[in-house]
Amino acid sequence: MSFTIDQQLCIQCKLCIEVCPVNLIETDQDNKVRFIANRTAICIGCGQCMAVCSTKAIVANNLSYETGFEALPDKTVSYNDFTGFLSSRRSVRNYTKKQVPAEMMDKILHSLSYAPFGASPEKMHVTVINNRKIIEDSLPFIENFLDNIVKWVDNPVTSFMIRKKKGNETFNTIKNHLYPIAKFDNYKLKYGDRITRGAPAMIILHADKDAEEHTNNALIYATYITLTAHSLGLGASMIGIVPAAVNKVKEVREAYKIPGHHEAVMAVIVGFPKVHYQRAIKRTLPAIHNITSQE
Ligand SMILES: Cc1cc2nc3c(=O)[nH]c(=O)nc-3n(C[C@H](O)[C@H](O)[C@H](O)COP(=O)(O)O)c2cc1C
Repeated sequence: MSFTIDQQLCIQCKLCIEVCPVNLIETDQDNKVRFIANRTAICIGCGQCMAVCSTKAIVANNLSYETGFEALPDKTVSYNDFTGFLSSRRSVRNYTKKQVPAEMMDKILHSLSYAPFGASPEKMHVTVINNRKIIEDSLPFIENFLDNIVKWVDNPVTSFMIRKKKGNETFNTIKNHLYPIAKFDNYKLKYGDRITRGAPAMIILHADKDAEEHTNNALIYATYITLTAHSLGLGASMIGIVPAAVNKVKEVREAYKIPGHHEAVMAVIVGFPKVHYQRAIKRTLPAIHNITSQE
């Protein structure tokens, strides 16, 4: 890995020292900015030192000014524009049959390069299924998985095993959210596709089961995907049932070509929305605990 500071270009502004999240940079006794040699191993490759350098003097972690950075936009969005954009996004579950053009899909995927990450973004995998037939062929297996969930929760022994193996969060999600809906036959294919909602495309976020922070990274990616799709006039929705089926059902995993040692974290369906909403939905805020005051 290359960590260099061109002393001809460096103006000693020391902003790189200020922004580095893992404190890799210091000044020496001559006030020259330099990397602390024995700390470079903990560089997380975030690129902030290079993004802040006005003279392109610093290079960290083999990053390149040519390929790894781009000009900032002239202006970004105002609070009102931004919250207006957020308020007009919906989880879209009604699509036209029109395929998502490859260029639009590329734009959605490109937005992931701007996402924050907990650790090791290079370990994340994104599988794009821009093919309705592949999605459709997998649905009977997912339907069967949902039928099994009802059986497993109804049976005290398997119910106990799920809680033990998957933990309380997953168990409660299954028992209190998924199970009642599945028990009402909501997902039965005889009523149409209520699983992937007829979407022409689906994106799956996955990583090696042991990859650090992959769950958090995947959910941030899924959020970026839904927001970028919305900015393009597309609809999108996270679909939590799909990764659960990928992780449990061999046929689904194989249909989407997800490696056996990978865990799927989230799926996002994407397509052209059939329905346009007339108003934004104002929801109750989550419990907010403001501890600004010390009383
Ligand atoms: C983690 C997660 C999992 C979700 N799973 C599903 C799903 O399996 N099926 C579905 O139709 N919607 C799913 N959604 C979408 C939510 O139901 C939706 O966000 C919620 O109803 C609020 O609606 P809105 O997104 O339009 O504000 C999921 C959303 C999240 C964040």
